[in-house]
Amino acid sequence: MSSVLQDPDNTNWPDSGSELSRQELGRLIYASICQVDGPVLDEMRRIRDHAVVNNQAHNLRVALMHRCGWFVEWIEGPPDGIRALLERVALDPRHRSLRVVHESVGKPRLFKPWIGSIAQTTETTGEFARRVMALQERHQKGRGYEPASVWRSLCSPLPGHVEVAAANDGSYQRVMMMSAARTDAFDLLRWLSAHEQRAVVHRRFAGAARDALDVESDYLDLPQQAAAGRRLIVNARKGLAMGMTHAFLPDYAAVVILLDADAERNEHLLDRLLTACQHVHHQPVIVGLGADSWFSDSLRSTTEARGLRWHEARAVGPSSDMATLWWALKRILDALS
Ligand SMILES: Cc1cc2nc3c(=O)[nH]c(=O)nc-3n(C[C@H](O)[C@H](O)[C@H](O)COP(=O)(O)O)c2cc1C
Repeated sequence: MSSVLQDPDNTNWPDSGSELSRQELGRLIYASICQVDGPVLDEMRRIRDHAVVNNQAHNLRVALMHRCGWFVEWIEGPPDGIRALLERVALDPRHRSLRVVHESVGKPRLFKPWIGSIAQTTETTGEFARRVMALQERHQKGRGYEPASVWRSLCSPLPGHVEVAAANDGSYQRVMMMSAARTDAFDLLRWLSAHEQRAVVHRRFAGAARDALDVESDYLDLPQQAAAGRRLIVNARKGLAMGMTHAFLPDYAAVVILLDADAERNEHLLDRLLTACQHVHHQPVIVGLGADSWFSDSLRSTTEARGLRWHEARAVGPSSDMATLWWALKRILDALS
């Protein structure tokens, strides 16, 4: 979870044969109260260093989140291995009161032996705890949600009470945005947040390697937009190599590339995005966004050659005008919802 070294652009996943397996396996999510004294980030690094080696040896993949004084861990792998890890982890004094909120057999989502993340939030520990209890109760009654939905309900909840939010989870339009250059997509989200007077949520994700870069990912909820609400998630380009991005890629209806005047940058990002989609067997609509002159025929043909749909949100007017960009994009996203 350090902020230096290693190029995370590498999208080969030697631990997974570089494609997400379609074979069913065990999935378990628990939440626990963090008992770490001192910086949690440092402790998560220590957990990671151990977990990367251990999990790989047992064919387990794990995502660990810290939020609101709680840990949430999502484990995938052979059910026996999951149970053995749970028993070991339950004895760890760095947390207490483990509550299993999901357990099932089904399709995998996690590629890497370890994914870590920390979310900044203004939510209180009590509010978070209420969501944990509600999900645990649902799970115990045999009415649990899919793991990705459970994870989101805890770690990046939709607005509203847990039950209402979770019920909306499947119908919320999720759109990922990345920019071909600079931090343009983050800037657009910030502008939109001010325009809509809704707060952006900031998150940091860590790679599975000791010296992997942290990756930022911001999101903004627009519950009044699309048929049942819309979430715009901005990822850094290097986020395309992150386990967390892969885990949630199948839930995006569309991925937006904020284009640049430099055609090479556009092609490069598009190629990486299409490769990532291929690895997770997902075919979102790809939307190019930018000034009219930044579009080229090859963007469409490259996308269509890989079996995905290409839409163009062409902003007419000054390219740096956020309002112009947003209205061009919104028109396309509304048509998709
Ligand atoms: C929240 C949390 C999550 C953890 N996740 C893992 C994990 O995924 N894999 C792992 O091997 N250890 C994990 N650990 C560490 C284990 O609890 C334990 O310290 C470690 O496996 C030491 O095992 P050993 O004594 O057999 O070496 C985690 C600890 C905490 C507090």
